Amino acid sequence: ADKINVAIDGPAGAGKSTVARMVAQKLSYIYVDTGAMYRAVTWYMIRKDIMPEDHDNVLQTVRNMVIELIPGEEVQKVIINGEDVTPHIRSLQVSGMVSQYAKIESIRTRLSQLQREMALGKGVVMDGRDIGTTVLPDAEVKIFMTASVKERALRRYKELKDAEQVTLEQLENDIAQRDLLDQSREISPLRRADDSILLDTTSMDIVQVVETIVSHCRSYA
Ligand code: C5P
Repeated sequence: ADKINVAIDGPAGAGKSTVARMVAQKLSYIYVDTGAMYRAVTWYMIRKDIMPEDHDNVLQTVRNMVIELIPGEEVQKVIINGEDVTPHIRSLQVSGMVSQYAKIESIRTRLSQLQREMALGKGVVMDGRDIGTTVLPDAEVKIFMTASVKERALRRYKELKDAEQVTLEQLENDIAQRDLLDQSREISPLRRADDSILLDTTSMDIVQVVETIVSHCRSYA
């Protein structure tokens, strides 16, 4: 069958990356985690002390940045100017700041362009916030994955618990706050594409979600 592109969007902590990776594996497609790209840029900006308000500096820096994505079995690596930044991008500091940088036009333009290039050859499963609406509006299959804030916080909690000191309540607040910022920004906000399939995963397990998406992909071709 001909290869297609699959866009998976949704709010923070809906389980998009786990699911997208598994879907890609089943279809022998390439998985692209666009959130990791925004996180990597955020980490780099924080380390260079470049504040999101400093638009000129942000623009210069993002223009000159060399960004590489290396697909992997478990996690996709993000390399910025030759440096593997992957170990830093899931920290609470980056999660707390990423939406501030992700709303900046110069950053979105650069990253969207890279994302489109990666999808040119088809056979890509890409997850993010604006893939179905803006990055790949022609993706053959579009999924909008959600779950209640409580359930999403709980999933994140289980994932993070060992690594960082954080309460469930704190995570619930972080997630709700990030959703609000992502939905209300001016450029390509988090929004369900009209032609996407809505998947509420609150009471589904990962395997069910993956099966559902894969069957949509198979029935397309
Ligand atoms: O998916 P993840 O939670 O890693 O994304 C981190 C942040 O990156 C999001 O909260 C959002 O601010 C930003 N993002 C975005 N557009 C995407 C992917 C992520 O604005 N396509």
